[in-house]
This record gives sequence, C-alpha cells and structure tokens, in this order.
Amino acid sequence: MVQVLFVCLGNICRSPMAEAIFRKMVEDEGLSDQIKVDSAGVGHWHQGEPPHEGTRKILDEKSISYEGMRARQIKAEDWDEFDYIIAMDEQNMRDLEAIRDEYENVTIQRLMDLVPDAKEQNVPDPYFTGNFEYVYELVTEGCKHLLDEIKEDHNL
Ligand code: 4NP
Repeated sequence: MVQVLFVCLGNICRSPMAEAIFRKMVEDEGLSDQIKVDSAGVGHWHQGEPPHEGTRKILDEKSISYEGMRARQIKAEDWDEFDYIIAMDEQNMRDLEAIRDEYENVTIQRLMDLVPDAKEQNVPDPYFTGNFEYVYELVTEGCKHLLDEIKEDHNL
C-alpha cells in the first residue's frame, strides 16, 4: 500500500481539493487497493470542518466526491505512515521541514515541482485569492504527474 498525504495551511481549501481529485484519479485507474490518499493542515484552526465552500462548489461541478472529509492537523504518526508528503507551497514546505524532527528520511515534495515547465511553483491560496478554478487547474495537473511518478516508482 502506497500512502499519500497532501498538506496545505488550513486543510480546508487546497489539500482537500487535491485529496478528492487524486482519489478520483486513483479510482478511475483501478488502483484504490494500492494507493491510499489523505490530507492535513499545518495549522489547527479549521480542525473538524468540511472543505471550504469554494472547494466544495468546484468539486460538485466536476462530480468529484468529498464525502466525509474533515480538516485535521498533521500529527507525528503521519511521518511514519505516509510515503509521499505533498506540499502545496513553499511556506508549507518550510513549516513541514521545521516540524519533521527525526523523520529526516521522509521526502517532502512540492506539488508543482512535479510538473515540468509549470506556470506556478506554488498553488496560490484561494482562501485569500478566491480563485478556486485556478487551483483546480493547477492541482489537477500536479496530481496527474504525481500519479505517474507513483506508478513508475511502484510498478503499478
Ligand atoms: P488552505 O487555505 O491552506 O488552502 O486550506 C487556508 C485556509 C484557512 C486559512 C489559511 C489558508 N486561515 O488562515 O484560516
């Protein structure tokens, strides 16, 4: 089982969108038994909340399920559990590096770094920009490349 954790700041906008999109891609490829997907926030403020209404709206439009998803903060056990930790932006990367302690072997990757010639390095935070459509576009592109990488790494 390959375990993937998407991380953003609040776990209500970007990383839940990535979780939902990526899970759908994994299902569509028949890989649900091999790849498990989750998301978490660096911050704790929105713990227990469903995805932001902007994220819900775009996922509804695309008929992608976010059923049962609730925000949570990243926790120590996550470092043991997950094989791929995928950050949405540079600040998330820095925050994760600061709390990783002894888990120096876990690779943290920034989602847009997986996309060759990406037009953004960071997924802009729609909590502040309001642009959920653009986040959907970027995250979808990033997730496609992530799935390719995982399939290659694990011969799936
Ligand atoms: P996210 O967006 O990191 O994409 O979930 C944010 C959500 C909430 C806050 C910041 C970013 N906040 O400051 O509460």
